[in-house]
Amino acid sequence: MTVASPSPTTSATTAAPAVEAVALRKAYGPINAVDGIDLSLPAGRIYGMLGPNGSGKTTLIRLLTGLVSATSGEARVMGVEMPSRTNLARIGYMTQADGIYPELSVWENLSFFAALYGQRDRAEMIRALELVELDGRLGTPAHQLSGGMRRRLSMACALAHHPAVLFLDEPTVGVDPAVRVQFWDHFHRLAAAGATLLVSSHVMDEADRCDELLFMREGHVLAQGTPADLRARAGTDNLESAFLHFAGLSASPPATAGSSQEAAR
Ligand SMILES: Nc1ncnc2c1ncn2[C@@H]1O[C@H](COP(=O)(O)OP(=O)(O)O)[C@@H](O)[C@H]1O
Ligand SMILES: [Mg+2]
Repeated sequence: MTVASPSPTTSATTAAPAVEAVALRKAYGPINAVDGIDLSLPAGRIYGMLGPNGSGKTTLIRLLTGLVSATSGEARVMGVEMPSRTNLARIGYMTQADGIYPELSVWENLSFFAALYGQRDRAEMIRALELVELDGRLGTPAHQLSGGMRRRLSMACALAHHPAVLFLDEPTVGVDPAVRVQFWDHFHRLAAAGATLLVSSHVMDEADRCDELLFMREGHVLAQGTPADLRARAGTDNLESAFLHFAGLSASPPATAGSSQEAAR
């Protein structure tokens, strides 16, 4: 497996956090899907967004990629206000529902998304398919792929153009354990090469693979920190209990005065 470096950033934006949100809010009628989120995420790390279904993870990703407009607040990627068409070439987005075309083959799907993002190097496209072990399936129509294979193809489509910032919405759902391990190894290589990854999940078992976590619920970020930091602040050795603690749902008393304030936010 070859690891590609993310695209270089321009000098004007290198100092900016990779991902920023300022009082970001998205309302759908009476529902505040994202309810005033502030973020400032430095580059080169893997951020895990964890929260139950409906907590606003997908909406936050769509706001940050500029695919939905905010009700209020600001979203910036690599220092550029979103939505920005020109910034899209530096962003990779793996959607929660696979965005691939069922009638197109594996190669045609990849070619379509690569072209959209300005990647025309055939060798790089093949490398992306090797990474997800679909290089032997170039001619297979996407509708003949298993769910896990479709997930893998979506992944290849999201990273063939070497984005500086990758948004991955529940990327490992339906992916078998061996490929899952490969995905995570690759995420770490990408981050080591300077890319920033924001990975959502509604299960805690992958949380420890992230450099930093954002616990989300009801459109809010309940707590942010390294897995070790969040466990320590919640006074538990278990991330699931830590989540419940910050969500104010645990029966156990808060570990410190600071963490109880956080849970109430
Ligand atoms: N396009 C939409 N129209 C109306 N409500 C939406 C839409 N997208 C999301 N929501 C609502 O916003 C909330 C957050 O959803 P979502 O961002 O998909 O959460 P998650 O990805 O954490 O499961 C949910 O209550 C969901 O029903
Ligand atoms: Mg979602």
